[in-house]
Amino acid sequence: MQSAEKPSLYDRLGGVYSIATVVDDLIDRVMADPRLNANPLVDEAHHRVPPAGFKYLVTEMVCWAAGGPQKYTGRSMAESHKQLKITDKEWEAFVDDVWLTLDKFKVPAEEQAELRAIVNSTRPDIVFDSAHAQGAA
Ligand code: HEM
Repeated sequence: MQSAEKPSLYDRLGGVYSIATVVDDLIDRVMADPRLNANPLVDEAHHRVPPAGFKYLVTEMVCWAAGGPQKYTGRSMAESHKQLKITDKEWEAFVDDVWLTLDKFKVPAEEQAELRAIVNSTRPDIVFDSAHAQGAA
């Protein structure tokens, strides 16, 4: 819900230039994370997809989820992740990378909390054993 006094999360984050900068750092971090690439399916995909396109799609998605004017044009989260068989532990490593990046750019606590809620909402679609993951979220 938004009011006249409260700009959207998108605006508070600084719009597309800031979000794209943060996503650039995050995707570099995630694509090189040995905790994630220990999963051979993730490792294969991380070495197959061109980083620029990956960053484009994730930027589009984050902008859209934060209330920006962009539309997400990629595949659904379930469709693009189910074949990767992502575990709870890999999810936790990914979330850790997200916070390392947000801290690096000194994103304020309130905006981090809103981003955490957005990230958590995707967990059942991304973690392979989603019934268990939902209970832990
Ligand atoms: C909030 C959590 C996440 C979001 C918002 C997200 C977002 C995305 C997006 C937008 C795409 C591109 C979809 C397309 O090709 O149309 C994608 C693909 C991918 N994601 Fe994620 N992701 C998340 C979590 C994860 C995690 C935890 C991992 C690994 C442990 C991961 C690994 C991958 C890989 C390897 C691909 C490429 C798949 C392929 O093209 O075969 N993602 N993700």
